[in-house]
Amino acid sequence: GTPGRLVLRGDLLDFTADPGFAAPHEAPGVRWRTDHRVLIDAGRIVAVQPADQALPTGWEGAPEQDHRGRLLMPGFIDTHVHCPQLDVIASFGTELLDWLNTYTFPAERRYADPEVSRIGAERFLNALWAHGTTSAVVFPTVHKVSADALFERAHAHDMRLITGKVLMDRHAPEGLLDDVEQAERDCLDLIARWHGNGRQAYAVTVRFAPTSTPEQLVMAGELCRSQPGVYMQTHVAENRSEVQWVSELFPDARSYLDVYDRDGLIGPRSVLAHGIWLDARDHAVLRERGAQIAHCPSSNLFLGSGLFDWAQAQREGLHVSLASDVGGGTSLSMLRNMADAYKIQAMQGTRLSAWKALHAATLGSAEALGLADEIGQIEPGRMADFAIWNWSHGDVAHHRDSLARGSHGSLHERVFAWMTLGDERNLAATLVAGQTVFQSASVM
Ligand code: GUN
Ligand code: ZN
Repeated sequence: GTPGRLVLRGDLLDFTADPGFAAPHEAPGVRWRTDHRVLIDAGRIVAVQPADQALPTGWEGAPEQDHRGRLLMPGFIDTHVHCPQLDVIASFGTELLDWLNTYTFPAERRYADPEVSRIGAERFLNALWAHGTTSAVVFPTVHKVSADALFERAHAHDMRLITGKVLMDRHAPEGLLDDVEQAERDCLDLIARWHGNGRQAYAVTVRFAPTSTPEQLVMAGELCRSQPGVYMQTHVAENRSEVQWVSELFPDARSYLDVYDRDGLIGPRSVLAHGIWLDARDHAVLRERGAQIAHCPSSNLFLGSGLFDWAQAQREGLHVSLASDVGGGTSLSMLRNMADAYKIQAMQGTRLSAWKALHAATLGSAEALGLADEIGQIEPGRMADFAIWNWSHGDVAHHRDSLARGSHGSLHERVFAWMTLGDERNLAATLVAGQTVFQSASVM
């Protein structure tokens, strides 16, 4: 066959619109195509067709991966995750501010070493792929080399990655602090070399308001204004002690979000992690600016931060994506995080459908990031980023799936049980730009 060509065969699930909080059987936008072929050429999807339809001329000899009976989905998008925090995932006993000082900052200091950064980036991206995640918005550390290492590794695999060196010039230990001038030079150099280079994009990365001086926040806002197309990522209103501290540090700001907004940091390419403790005026600002909240379910539960009201955010017209926030979060698995998201909404009297959760981790975040022409759907022209899933792993899930698959079960029943019981052990294979970057023993 022609080099660069590949055919995938299986059952395709993706979305064409936001299912919202509609009941599963009434939800719009769900696209389910059983036994289809996806034709891939040079890293892109070129056609999608029913398996009983003849291949176009010239495709007869193309290699085919036969995943009949498996679920083919767009690779997941994790919109907020910390590369160096794989070193502290599952650390006992603290909430946000103690957790940062006790576990996170000491771990991040080690990334000053280029070799630690290089190995850490490799370990981290391999781990994302082994969990079915093919695009991510990532925090490295304050060290320029930690951002370089992520860009280099992602670029080598043509993976969509958004990151940028962390800005922090106060309230952190020695070895984790930059200053305004050096940080600006580092950002400009990273932007020049990486932003728009293949699938790499730069994010101006303010850790959170307490670790940046007002002068550094002004500099970050100028970068957002002067550098076309860059993203901005930060944390906001995660934890009540944190919100209190921000109000003491920035007495003139109307709210935590306003600390960022008044310096021009909030726009359509801003990704704000958490956003649990925002008020109605903050919501209006987010809506007007077109910014997105990265909801981090396992992190919010693990650190005891609070219960994000997703249904309320939806009613207010906000963009909400899903994120693991490892190492505050306890799993890189977006399925695990969806199961936690369901429970967080259940505690507030709302039921999150599998459709809404899966949309948020695919087309929903692709749209919120302005990348819907590249990722998030199985559609000609999109990049061939796929996660291919087994419906069950283990006896209990297998039993549950066989009942849901029976003649009376709806598709949502089956997909919801898969989402709730599943994790990375269900993953059969992951493709980034048409290349297999992960394959489980169940496929080999
Ligand atoms: N706020 C500031 N830094 C962090 C971090 O590393 N993780 C989380 N969850 N919140 C933060
Ligand atoms: Zn975070």
